[in-house]
Amino acid sequence: MGAKILGTGSYLPPKEVTNDDLAASLDTSDEWIFSHTGIHSRHIAGPEDCTSTMAVKAAQKALDAAKVPAEKIGAVIVATSTPDYDTFPSTACIVQNALGCVNAAAYDLQAACTGFIYALEQARCYLALHPTRPVLVIGSETLSRILDWKDRGSCILFGDGAGAVVIAATPGGNEGWTTHLRADGSGAEFILREGGTRLDPESDEAKSLSRALMLKGRQVFNFAVKTFADIIENLCAESGIKSSDLDMIVAHQANGRIIEATARRIDLPLDKFFMNIESTGNTSAASVPVALDQAVRAGRLKEGMRIVMAGFGSGLTYGGTMMTWPGN
Ligand code: UT7
Repeated sequence: MGAKILGTGSYLPPKEVTNDDLAASLDTSDEWIFSHTGIHSRHIAGPEDCTSTMAVKAAQKALDAAKVPAEKIGAVIVATSTPDYDTFPSTACIVQNALGCVNAAAYDLQAACTGFIYALEQARCYLALHPTRPVLVIGSETLSRILDWKDRGSCILFGDGAGAVVIAATPGGNEGWTTHLRADGSGAEFILREGGTRLDPESDEAKSLSRALMLKGRQVFNFAVKTFADIIENLCAESGIKSSDLDMIVAHQANGRIIEATARRIDLPLDKFFMNIESTGNTSAASVPVALDQAVRAGRLKEGMRIVMAGFGSGLTYGGTMMTWPGN
């Protein structure tokens, strides 16, 4: 039994915040941010939006594109690090109810910026056991609500949004679908957010901790450049193809320089990498499905193209999936 993506959708909140807007209250500049990251602006959720509402808007578009009614969905998986509620209920349950996926299981998956890639693979596993029940895979993030807006080393990087796909089982082979997922917890401290059960909440340490995202940017940058190239090379080796046989790479939009360095490292032209970071920033688990949907709607993805989707981020986690883009 194989699997294929039947439809995609995405949603970016309407409010755009430019680098100049940030520079009005932060010691930074459009020139610094753009030259170091490739970002000019990002979308920031207004009070009407949160992770579940953006997920619902993206998922409804994916269901419409796939022409799959909500009640047919067997599982709703929401990849997020910024759930509506800190612990439970899962954001996926809020989304399941709002969409009317009345016959679906629903759960969140936390693998940070690699979350969508992990969730897609879980969907394929689910479909192997339940081939008549398509899966809704969503990446949605409201990172703006966990940032320290005074920390120029992190807040300039991130944005909000959601992307989604409907994936269904297909008879026959896997159409060249190969996945490579890994983690390296030795780098857990490179991107983290305090506030869980690690510490006694009454301890002085817990009371003095910030609950904002903390980033060791340079360490993450070096990790990302190495692992992104490794992901692509491993997927190609497993599939017995050369990287030059790839038609498009839809990668996590963390920093334009990470993508450029990877392209150089594996000797692939930059125009094979889909890029939207200039206007989205890093939207973590939403980044790959938003980019995928934009590529689909711009007519950039054609039937038969060999594509790689890849992510890397907190955990540390990293991974990629290679497939042949299906026809309608
Ligand atoms: O999705 C995965 C999550 N995260 C990432 O992928 C992030 C990966 N890392 C990065 O994208 C980059 O490391 C950053 C964009 C975060 C930082 O760029 P960098 O070239 O690694 O800069 P740096 O952290 O080494 O800092 C260089 C200088 C420092 O000043 P000094 O100490 O040399 O005087 C920083 O204080 O740049 C300064 N700096 C800034 N200056 C103006 C850091 N952020 C800013 C800023 N505006 N926004």
